[in-house]
Parts: sequence; C-alpha cells; structure tokens
Amino acid sequence: MHVIVVGAGIIGLATAWHLRSLGAGVTIIDPAPGQGASHAAAGMLAPAAEVVWGQSPLYPLMRASAQMYPSFAAEVASAAGADLGLTDSGTLVCAGDRADLQALRELRTAQTAAGFPTELITGSRARELEPALSPSVAGAVRIPDDQSIDPRRTTAALLSVVSDTTVRRQVTRLTRRDGVTVGVEFSGGDELTADQVVITAGTEAAAITGMPPLPLRKVWGDVLRLRAPAALTPLLHGTVRGLVNGRPVYIVARDDGELVLGASSREDGRSGTDAGAVHRLLQDGQRLVPGILDCEITDITTRARPGSPDDLPIVGRIDEGCLVSTGYFRHGILLAPLGGRLGAELAMGLTPDWMPAGGLASVSPARFSDGPSSADSTSDPSILHPTTLYRSTS
Ligand code: GLY
Repeated sequence: MHVIVVGAGIIGLATAWHLRSLGAGVTIIDPAPGQGASHAAAGMLAPAAEVVWGQSPLYPLMRASAQMYPSFAAEVASAAGADLGLTDSGTLVCAGDRADLQALRELRTAQTAAGFPTELITGSRARELEPALSPSVAGAVRIPDDQSIDPRRTTAALLSVVSDTTVRRQVTRLTRRDGVTVGVEFSGGDELTADQVVITAGTEAAAITGMPPLPLRKVWGDVLRLRAPAALTPLLHGTVRGLVNGRPVYIVARDDGELVLGASSREDGRSGTDAGAVHRLLQDGQRLVPGILDCEITDITTRARPGSPDDLPIVGRIDEGCLVSTGYFRHGILLAPLGGRLGAELAMGLTPDWMPAGGLASVSPARFSDGPSSADSTSDPSILHPTTLYRSTS
C-alpha cells in the first residue's frame, strides 16, 4: 500500500506516522514541511482549558487525544532520538479582574460538566504557585492535568522519521480515473500516483482542484516567542492563560526557558503580523505576568488556523481513493495523535471503532452537506462520494 499525504503539518505528519506503523509506504508532499500553522502553535495539550461553551462534541475528542499523547510522544521521541519538550506542569487560568473571574467561574461549570478536574483558587494561592503573576490577578482556575509540547520540535522529529520520500512541491489537483482519486498533479503538470491520497493541507485543502468545496475559514493568529533575562529565569513554571477584559491570552513556558505568548484570532484575511494584535497580546500578557515586558522577543509568527463552521475537525472519505483530514482549528497539536490515527486507519480501509462518543459522524465532511445524501453518509460516513455530497470543483 502506497499513500500520498498532502500537507506536512502536525496532522499530516502524525497521519504518516500511523500509516507507517500500519505498514504503508508514505510519500509526504509539502512545499514547506512544518512551516504552516504548526510552526506558530504554542503546543498546549490542554483539553480542559480549551473548553468553551457550545462545543461539547469536541470534548471527547480532546480528552481521548490527550490520553494518547504520552505514548505517542514517547514513541516519536524515541524513534527520532529527540526531546519534544513534553511537560506536565498544568495550567493556571487567571482572571485579570473580578469580571474576568466571574467569566472563569461560569466557564468552570462547563469544564466540570465535561468531566475535567479543575480547582478554583484565590489570586494569592495562584501567586504561590507562580510567583511572577501580577498582584492584580483576581483568582484562577487550576488545571493540574494539562500538558504542553514544543510543536516545532515535534514536527521536526516526525519529519525525520515518517517519510520514505518527502517531496517539497505544490499539489494543485487531484488526479481522478472513473471518479476515483488515483494520485496528485503538481504545479508543473506532472503527476504522482498512489493507492490512497490523504489531504492534510490545513486551510489550503480546499484550494486543491478536485476537492469538494470544504467550508474552511482562515483564523489568523499572531504568536510571540520570548526569552526572559537570566535573572528572571524561569519566569513561569507552567502554562499561564486567562482572560483580561474578556480577551483570552496564554503564555506557555517551556523547560528550556522559552515563553510562547498568543491567543489572537483574526478573520480579516491579512496574512501579515498585525501590530494591534501584538500590542494587545503584550498588554494582556503583562497584566497577568508583568515580567513579560522584561523579556526579549525572539520570534513573531503569524499563521492561519483551519477553522470549520462548528469548530470540529473535518475527517472523512471524499471518494474511494482520497480522504481529507483538516479543520482542526485551535486544536491541531492536541488532536494530532487522534487525527493521525483516524486518518491513517481510514486510508487503510480499517474501522476506527475506538473513536469516542460521536464517532466518525461528528467529524464527517458530510455534516455540512444538505439533502438526502447527508443522512445516507451519516450512517456510514467513511464512504462519501463528492459528486453526490458536493458540487464538484473539477
Ligand atoms: N490553541 C491555541 C490557539 O489556537 O491559539
């Protein structure tokens, strides 16, 4: 079995990892492997802290993938001989003021209902745990089970071990024979064939000619990497995130002293770094951790998260030779072990009966289509035919 994986972000690479473990030969195609959304991501493995109202179908996926992480990361680290920066120091979700604390209390109700253990603590208790927190922090939710990982190290490690062949080129079109995908066409017009094609190209998945019109949206995020002066290191021991005037902000602390500051979400179509977003991140970050302003900025990266209409991934077959795995939105790093295993098993014709509540239907691309074929596909979402589900673009 030879499988082409189009897109070498963390989802494509995790898919390739699982495909290899199932015995497939893999060709990864990406003009710039590991340089998309995964390059910006902070790497929080924080299913509880990522809970937001109205996304309950997502929680079982986040929980299941978080549980898969320790063994996934250990196996990748061992195979690549690399340190992926996995930490398990938990998250403190901090309130910038009393109104933010009320919002965190309400969010905690959703976290508790979703079955995630959390603890509401006072601002002074939060400062005992993280002395760099501002005296103005009004309280915090402590989430002891959260982890984090370095996405850049993880994609580099995966890339070093998963690919028989990595092709640094742009795929422009699916090649079809009798309505079934048999390979891909490159920008130069030449083709590569395979038994299966898996499209893991994030927001670019919909731009490949022959793909159904996936409802993806680009949610831009600006992410800063910082380093504290030696006298202040370590500035933080774990992930500090929170609300400041209702705005989300997070600071992920790595063992090597790197701090990653982010949370901006823009759908303004601008791919460049937004000065206002960077200003607000620094302003909100320093409201929680004043020492942020003493740090050196080592990197600013802006990338688009692949958002779907319901913020759930889009994973499923589009024809007998091709499946799509994208739409991971804010959760690509967390969901990589689950999404990778799911995409690989579907490509190999296996039934992923281990999928948590909601199963394949919760992530099926068919959920966005209307008409009778949508109901058909929900009963067996691993067999989708774009000609009946979507207006074909080719
Ligand atoms: N998961 C963090 C973010 O998307 O900003």
